[in-house]
Amino acid sequence: MSTLKIDQVSKLFRSTSRGGGLTAALRKVSFDIPQGEVITLIGESGSGKSTLGKIILRLVQPTSGSVTLDGKDIAKHPQRAYYQYVQGVFQDPFSSYNPIYQADRVFELVRGTYFPRMSAAEWDAKLEGVLDAVALNPADVLGKYPHQLSGGQQQRLLIARALLLDVKFLVADEIISMLDASTRVDILNLLVKLKRQGLAILFVTHDLSLGNYVSDRTIILRHGAIVEMGATPKVFGNPQHDYTKMLLTAVPELHKKWKHSPLGPVTAAGDAVVAVDSALATDVISANGSGAVATAVAHATLLDELSHAEAVVKRDLRAVFSREGRGSTVVSSLLEPPRLVEFEPDHLVAEPE
Ligand SMILES: Nc1ncnc2c1ncn2[C@@H]1O[C@H](COP(=O)(O)OP(=O)(O)OP(=O)(O)O)[C@@H](O)[C@H]1O
Ligand SMILES: [Mg+2]
Repeated sequence: MSTLKIDQVSKLFRSTSRGGGLTAALRKVSFDIPQGEVITLIGESGSGKSTLGKIILRLVQPTSGSVTLDGKDIAKHPQRAYYQYVQGVFQDPFSSYNPIYQADRVFELVRGTYFPRMSAAEWDAKLEGVLDAVALNPADVLGKYPHQLSGGQQQRLLIARALLLDVKFLVADEIISMLDASTRVDILNLLVKLKRQGLAILFVTHDLSLGNYVSDRTIILRHGAIVEMGATPKVFGNPQHDYTKMLLTAVPELHKKWKHSPLGPVTAAGDAVVAVDSALATDVISANGSGAVATAVAHATLLDELSHAEAVVKRDLRAVFSREGRGSTVVSSLLEPPRLVEFEPDHLVAEPE
């Protein structure tokens, strides 16, 4: 049995706004996704859910930490083989299709890339089997343009596409939020059926009631960090963290997009010991007054996507500050998640912040 292991994964983004610093989209997130398990990932807008999904799909590189499939870093798996194992379906099915192509083109692309030598008869049988698994009648969808398909049909086609590849892990990011209520239930039932066939699903949602319906385990993400995690009946039946309780009491409002309250970006501290006149450098390293520069520099190495100029600045800073080395830093404290304590077996809860 395969397992995807997310280990201490952090992601820092440089804020795009002028003068903005760093946003910690994920803070040392760790959990496993064993084959055949559905894990619901819940958190308000901006809590880092999609970032985690994209990291698992190798669309975004983690700043630190690792994701492994069967013990091997996912970046080291050959790309084709990896995507044959791990696939994603996203919120907006409409944007996943090119409007000028018939919907079955997505299948043809899969065939061309992954099964070029399969005979037409074999391929047709495979396609039919997969469409049947997602409860689509081939005559209803094949040969149609995207605008001729309902949102539910489109979403099912995307799931079918993933199934053609015999995937073992599916990242399902808000895949039902744009569908009407009855179609949602159909898709959820489909996920439950696929799970029984051994598919592991990371089910990302705003909607707690849907998460409750579908999953074995629930993870509550807040500001990029896990604050509560455990067997779904435990998390829902006996929530421990104030944030989870708040989410549960907010259930009637769940159809609304939540107000976004991101973690503040890191800005240079007043007495930062950063002598280099570079906005980038102060973005990257802003040690606080307690001295802490060596660790600041060490943590700055976490940052990927550094330009050459930044790398030079960083090297210089390391040279200057490597003799310091006390205390913590803005960057490291930004990444520090709340400590998780075991409330009862299979139920981890963060200490109040
Ligand atoms: N490419 C990027 N560049 C800069 N910041 C980003 C980028 N992608 C995400 N972020 C930031 O990271 C944080 C987490 O974003 P993410 O999309 O993972 O949230 P989410 O939980 O999926 O939210 P939603 O429920 O709205 O989809 C947000 O503050 C977001 O602005
Ligand atoms: Mg998202």
